[in-house]
Amino acid sequence: MSYRLNTTENYHAHELDTLGWEMTVCNALYPENSPCRSVLKNKASLGVNLYHFLEKYISFKNIRNYLEIGGGMGYLSLDFLKLNSNLRATLLDISPYLVGRQKRTLGKYDGRFEQADALKKDEDFFSRFNLVIMNENLGDLPALIPSDDNKTIPSQELIYYQNKAERLSRKYNLRFDAEEVINIGALSLLEKICRVGVRYIYLSEHSCEAVAPENLHELIYIASAGFPEKISLKGHDEYTIKFSHLQKMAQLLGYKVLRGTLADILPLEFNEKLISTLRMKAAATDEQEIIQQFVYDLYKYEYLFLKT
Ligand SMILES: C[S@@+](CC[C@H](N)C(=O)[O-])C[C@H]1O[C@@H](n2cnc3c(N)ncnc32)[C@H](O)[C@@H]1O
Repeated sequence: MSYRLNTTENYHAHELDTLGWEMTVCNALYPENSPCRSVLKNKASLGVNLYHFLEKYISFKNIRNYLEIGGGMGYLSLDFLKLNSNLRATLLDISPYLVGRQKRTLGKYDGRFEQADALKKDEDFFSRFNLVIMNENLGDLPALIPSDDNKTIPSQELIYYQNKAERLSRKYNLRFDAEEVINIGALSLLEKICRVGVRYIYLSEHSCEAVAPENLHELIYIASAGFPEKISLKGHDEYTIKFSHLQKMAQLLGYKVLRGTLADILPLEFNEKLISTLRMKAAATDEQEIIQQFVYDLYKYEYLFLKT
């Protein structure tokens, strides 16, 4: 099978100068008056809800240094540091623009910042942390895209990632179907972090395998192809993540895995107003449209919480 490589490195490192057009769940929930908060049981930001979710599994008093990769505007880490003054955050991001935003957001709180491609960091770097958070960034990492082009000479980078895919497939018994996009960047980065034995890992991203719970089929329809799907965004394409591959690899590397959709972390308050908004074929107001999209995202995003 021939592949080409999809990367967003150039875009993130050299072109990105706003996240405004890419409405992440974290950013959508950050403003206190966000309409998205109104449909949640706990009407708070993603950072606050995630911290309380993780608290059920992590003894935060034993954690001092944690790493957030691809922290965007820095809102999630700001919430963590506000909730726990014992924590020290390291934020690693490829985008100079976003590193600047993260510094401003964290202000006086205990943060260290590094502008670098997470894929280029060596294992020693990750071994310093006992918690690593990757929220909505794995889809940005390189993907191998099946291609009919047998004539173009493959770049060194493409050959490197193709070899890596073959190795991961053999080592972790991952089946990559012909015609299937391979989330090679996500797999490579997670393997590195797991191999050094980071105690806790949380990651979340658009999944290509998410399904809405059966009791909500009437209200929520989630389209999932089962293999990574292209999402075209300003200046770059990204791909949904095949969570079953990440899960299998982490389990074989000795991790216990908790897997679910973001709706576990951000449970909805199913009142009449929300139900009638979800029943509408076409939203009548901007707010209803925002809510419909937000609820869709809560079930389309999956998370893995990994624990050694
Ligand atoms: C879609 S944004 C998500 C931001 C934030 N986590 C949120 O949920 O709002 C993706 C983030 O990952 C960063 N990123 C993308 N590729 C990266 C890489 N190779 N290494 C480190 N950071 C990367 C981007 O600069 C950006 O901060």
